[in-house]
Amino acid sequence: RRIVVLISGSGSNLQALIDALGTPALPDARIVLVLSNRKAAYGLTRAQQAAPPIPTAYLALQPYLKAHPGATREDYDAEVAKIVVQARPDIVVLAGWMHIMSEAFLDVLNGDRPYEHGKAVQRPIPVINLHPALPGAFDGAHAIERAYEAFQKGEIKHSGCMVHRVVREVDAGEPVIVREVEIKEGEPIEAFEERLHKTEWEIIVQGAAKVLDEVKPSLEKRS
Ligand code: GRF
Repeated sequence: RRIVVLISGSGSNLQALIDALGTPALPDARIVLVLSNRKAAYGLTRAQQAAPPIPTAYLALQPYLKAHPGATREDYDAEVAKIVVQARPDIVVLAGWMHIMSEAFLDVLNGDRPYEHGKAVQRPIPVINLHPALPGAFDGAHAIERAYEAFQKGEIKHSGCMVHRVVREVDAGEPVIVREVEIKEGEPIEAFEERLHKTEWEIIVQGAAKVLDEVKPSLEKRS
């Protein structure tokens, strides 16, 4: 079962997936491609240093737009989707992909839009995303800081993180795994963040395994 992972940063969640491959947590799964929108993403190094090495690709927005005068953000996302689909994934995991996916990406992954002239995905490819907050609590960016401040103001008792399906509305897809994460009175944000990231490393594996199990074994023989 084939996983494609999209990253933008350090890739600690990618590393959690890599470390889980072949264990009971993530049996008979392979990461067939790691795609980053930032050349400097350390996650690319993690993929290249995995045993066996994981193929990587890199496609940043600005260089793409410069190379394709008149191209739009949608064109970029459609190009990202094409690279992803050509790796023939069973599922796609957004692990710190710091871009809002436009409809073009999801349309291609759902089979509603060709990824190449006359070629479209036969069966929707599930896309999941990791978000460092509870469903509907702190959608969007800086969720960790916003939760920490809300706790300090007494507005929340704890926070959490989740793996959810990617739909057109940001961070609003159906949750796949949700875990609460404690915030301790008086602790610095770094302590909360470390506890939260450790929880993310667990749920990213559980979320990928759960969605992979729901994907029917593909009919055609996969290499
Ligand atoms: C994670 O906290 C994830 O929830 C957020 O970006 C971070 C990615 O961290 N979307 P890493 O690159 O996997 O270390």
